[in-house]
Amino acid sequence: MEDCLIENQTTFYSKAEHYWKEVPPTVDGMLGGYGSISSIDINGSKNFLHKFLGEGQGKTGTGCALDCGAGIGRITKRLLMPLFRTVDLVDVTQEFLDKARTYLGEEAKRVENYFCCGLQDFQPQPECYDVIWIQWVIGHLTDDHLVEFLRRCRSGLRPDGLIVVKDNVAYEGVVPDDVDSSMCRDLNVLHRLVARAGLNIICEEQQQNFPEEIYVHTLALR
Ligand SMILES: C[S@@+](CC[C@H](N)C(=O)[O-])C[C@H]1O[C@@H](n2cnc3c(N)ncnc32)[C@H](O)[C@@H]1O
Repeated sequence: MEDCLIENQTTFYSKAEHYWKEVPPTVDGMLGGYGSISSIDINGSKNFLHKFLGEGQGKTGTGCALDCGAGIGRITKRLLMPLFRTVDLVDVTQEFLDKARTYLGEEAKRVENYFCCGLQDFQPQPECYDVIWIQWVIGHLTDDHLVEFLRRCRSGLRPDGLIVVKDNVAYEGVVPDDVDSSMCRDLNVLHRLVARAGLNIICEEQQQNFPEEIYVHTLALR
C-alpha cells in the first residue's frame, strides 16, 4: 500500500543514486550534517549488539558481519571491525566504497568484499553472516523490495545469526522525502514488512540521547 507513494520505481532509485553521488564522503555526509551524533549512535549500537554476541547456546557468533548501505564504512570502522573477524560492505555508491578503503585504515585488510550494488538487487551468500547490519538505508527501498531483501538476508545468516535494522521512524504513516528520494515509515508499517519477510522481532529499542527531531529505533530480527 505504501508503495502507492512511489509513482515510478526507476525514478525513485535513480534520484537517490544521484543524490548520494553529490554527498561528500565524510561522516557528516553520511549523517546528513549530524556528524556530531555519530559517537552516541555507535555507543548505542554497541550496547544493543553486546546483548546477543558471545559463546554458548543461542548466542550470535563473531565471525563475519555485513554492513548494508555502508557508505564510507562509519559503522564498519567503529562498531563491526572491533567485534567481528571479517566484514563485508555493500552500498550503491562506488565513491563511498572507494573512500572506505582509506577511511578504514589498517583494518581495511579484514574487509573481504566491497559490493557496489543496490540492496534491491543484492543477494547475500547463503549462511555466510553472523550479523547483517542495515542502518539508515531502508527508506531507499520500496516495500516489496525491502521485504524481499530481508528474506534474502535471512538466508544469508549463519545459525543464531541476527539481522539488525536501525533507522528513523515516522510518528505516523509514511513520510516521503523528495530531496534524497526516500521514505520514513512508522513502526506499525515497519513491523508489518518485517512480518511479511517471515522474521521475528527479538528485541526493539529506541536510540536514546539523539536530538529531539531524530527518532530512531533499533530492531534485532531473525
Ligand atoms: C544515510 S547514509 C548511511 C550510511 C551508513 N549506513 C551510516 O550510518 O553511516 C545512506 C547510505 O545508503 C546508500 N544507499 C542509498 N540507496 C541505496 C540502495 N538502494 N542500496 C544500497 N545502498 C544505498 C547511500 O549510498 C549511503 O551510503
